[in-house]
Amino acid sequence: MKLIITEPRDFDAAAAREIVEQIAQKPDTVLGTATGNTTIGLHRELVRLHHGGGLDLAKVTLCQIDEYVGLPPGHAASCCTRINEQLLSHVNIAPENVVFPHDAARSPEDVCRRFEQSIRTRGGIDCQVVGIGENGHIGFNEPGTPFEATTHMALLSARAAGAIARWFAAQAEIPREGITMGIKTIMLSKKVLLLAKGADKADIIHRSLFGPVSTDVPASVLQLHPQMVVILDQPAAARI
Ligand code: GLP
Repeated sequence: MKLIITEPRDFDAAAAREIVEQIAQKPDTVLGTATGNTTIGLHRELVRLHHGGGLDLAKVTLCQIDEYVGLPPGHAASCCTRINEQLLSHVNIAPENVVFPHDAARSPEDVCRRFEQSIRTRGGIDCQVVGIGENGHIGFNEPGTPFEATTHMALLSARAAGAIARWFAAQAEIPREGITMGIKTIMLSKKVLLLAKGADKADIIHRSLFGPVSTDVPASVLQLHPQMVVILDQPAAARI
């Protein structure tokens, strides 16, 4: 495990540096993305480097870790909208090189199967960016998810549903399910970049990196990954 602890103001640049190095080594990188709050600044930094620093993403494939089920295209809460607004609409990733676990015209089972197939066809994920929930979830893999799970439809936890509640007029409109890369899918990535910032993540980061490897804390499985890079700001690293 490579552990990088930064000042809060340097966090996004440190995360972007890992991705820039990855793309320099392999221009046709398959990059897995996550769209929580943690990665907003990373995406902003990648856009800045694309416009001002010569970062070329023409050969990169973007593969999104998760998406809510049942949202119409362009809905403000959807991961697709977020990554479009934060990254895709500002850089030169080709539309045919964007892989999303979403297709309203297909059954969820079919979406999951085709998503796994797309990853395999592209040679696997080279670098998967992963955020972490305060209970250790990664993607929509909540505590209890088997480590062998590949891409699947998962029930959203109350917390995950609550995180997008502000975009819905009524509780009943909030999606109940999401499609997520499974833990096995994430573990098969050649490299995993785990990002966490803020004091709220300090406890779970300590448990995930140094506690027992257990499905009770999904992110703890990352201890077993041979190429794991962890970037924390100082508040998230407070218990290390
Ligand atoms: C959920 C999302 C992930 C995100 C994680 C952390 O799991 N499905 O995509 O990485 O939460 O979210 P945040 O970065 O907002 O703390």
